[in-house]
Amino acid sequence: MKEIINVELKMRKVGPDVAGWKTDMLVVGRFSDVEGLDKLHKELNNRLDGAIERLIKLGDFEAKEETNAIIYGNERTGAKRVLLVGLGEKKKATLDTVRKAAATAANRAVALKAETVSLTLHKPFGGRFDLAAMGRAMAEGTYFGSYRYDEFVTDSENGRLDLLKVGVIDPDSAKTRKLNRGLSSGVVIGKAQSYARTLANRPANVINPDALAAEAKKLARDYKSLSCTVFDKKQLRAKGMGGVLAVGSGSKSPPRFIALKHTPAGKLVRGKPSVALVGKAITFDSGGLSIKPADKMDEMKLDKSGGIAVLGTMKAVAELALPLNIYGIIPSAENMPGGSSYRPGDIVTTYSGKTVEVLNTDAEGRMILCDGIAYAVKQKCDVIVDIATLTGACKVALGQYMAGLMSNDDKLIKQLQKAAQDSGEKVWLMPSGEEYAKEMKSKIADLKNIGSKWGGACTAAAFLRQFTGDTKWAHLDIAGMDIFTKATEFTAAGSSGFGVRLLTTYLINLAGKKT
Ligand code: BES
Ligand code: MN
Ligand code: ZN
Repeated sequence: MKEIINVELKMRKVGPDVAGWKTDMLVVGRFSDVEGLDKLHKELNNRLDGAIERLIKLGDFEAKEETNAIIYGNERTGAKRVLLVGLGEKKKATLDTVRKAAATAANRAVALKAETVSLTLHKPFGGRFDLAAMGRAMAEGTYFGSYRYDEFVTDSENGRLDLLKVGVIDPDSAKTRKLNRGLSSGVVIGKAQSYARTLANRPANVINPDALAAEAKKLARDYKSLSCTVFDKKQLRAKGMGGVLAVGSGSKSPPRFIALKHTPAGKLVRGKPSVALVGKAITFDSGGLSIKPADKMDEMKLDKSGGIAVLGTMKAVAELALPLNIYGIIPSAENMPGGSSYRPGDIVTTYSGKTVEVLNTDAEGRMILCDGIAYAVKQKCDVIVDIATLTGACKVALGQYMAGLMSNDDKLIKQLQKAAQDSGEKVWLMPSGEEYAKEMKSKIADLKNIGSKWGGACTAAAFLRQFTGDTKWAHLDIAGMDIFTKATEFTAAGSSGFGVRLLTTYLINLAGKKT
């Protein structure tokens, strides 16, 4: 896939005169609770005849998180613009502060059509974080913030350049070396996330299950370590994947089951588990015969976001050549009403052999995921992590700040919580045990596909849990996290690509790779 904006990101060792470095936009960070000016700020302030000091004194820039201010350069500064980015309170700052600051800078740069950007955002942190980790966060943030989705805007003057050149600059060569170590994996992850955002942003008349399968096949052609198998309707029938078939039955675009596998070339690290990522890819969720209300139904083109997060993660792990066996399993269907749709009341035999009474065709995610999970169990994967825009109830419970995490394994919970902290894609632990499972029992089949009015995120997870057997499993409910409803200081509206950073970071940590 052609990238929408080509971002070139490099580490640059510069001379001692950072304030004189020639660039369209010099980006400097500032904490809200640190008085006075640091060395670089001071030097810039002098050359700008005290403009930074005046700006701060006026109270126009308090350096709170997610704020920024621009001062225009003069003949004595190398930069045409100096962008001050707020980092908030020093003691509260995390790696995500660095990531978001870089994203804010990149977002502003694209908006202003700056061609070159120079980041010094690691500077104010001193030795607080590992430099490689900061390099990675800056790279991830740069891609995140510069991302735009405008491939169908034909107006040639749609207001942005095709190329953005970003440098992380520092005069100290020991530092540039360390930053650079993290920068390269950050670029891989950042690009994979942008790739995911573009696929997710594409509407249902552009991407259907077959088109998604074609993307997965293309990915497998691009990377040697990846292989891809796709089951069409006939093969789904032969295999008995009743869940995927039922959900896909109402659409003119037939369902697909996509199974990617990453097998690294070198030796596997001994004792490392094989991991299956299972992602829900409903290319459009109308609700089916249990049809959804019209309001915001367009957002349901993003109901494929879990599957696409898996696709983006597979791209990243292949590019990073992680020494782990990883499956990317993506059941995909379009949930539509029609004469051949599955109906409330239907009893469906799923891939596992378990039968499900369908009481609401809008609870379709679990119907396809249970086949994906059962497939992963059959491949004898050691760990299963599924990711899905599964329930409105999860969005109600957690808002658009963190994803729900349900699991049957404490170690896996800790690993995902650590990955969330490292990646800035947050999760919150929720239950999925006995009480919830009980609600999902049917009188005329093994399970039913909806529970009572309450605890919808947990009963949905408890449903999936029935298909995991003895395998270690975690579920990420990303409903609400898949989208930025409005543009923010640090990114554009639309798909968030949520999950690519979280899952890739989990796998990087699992492989024992440093950054
Ligand atoms: N894709 C939706 C969940 C969703 C809602 C995602 C809002 C993103 C934003 C899912 O398929 C769905 O419709 N779930 C139902 C389940 C119910 C019928 C038990 C829901 O949440 O209403
Ligand atoms: Mn639905
Ligand atoms: Zn759905």
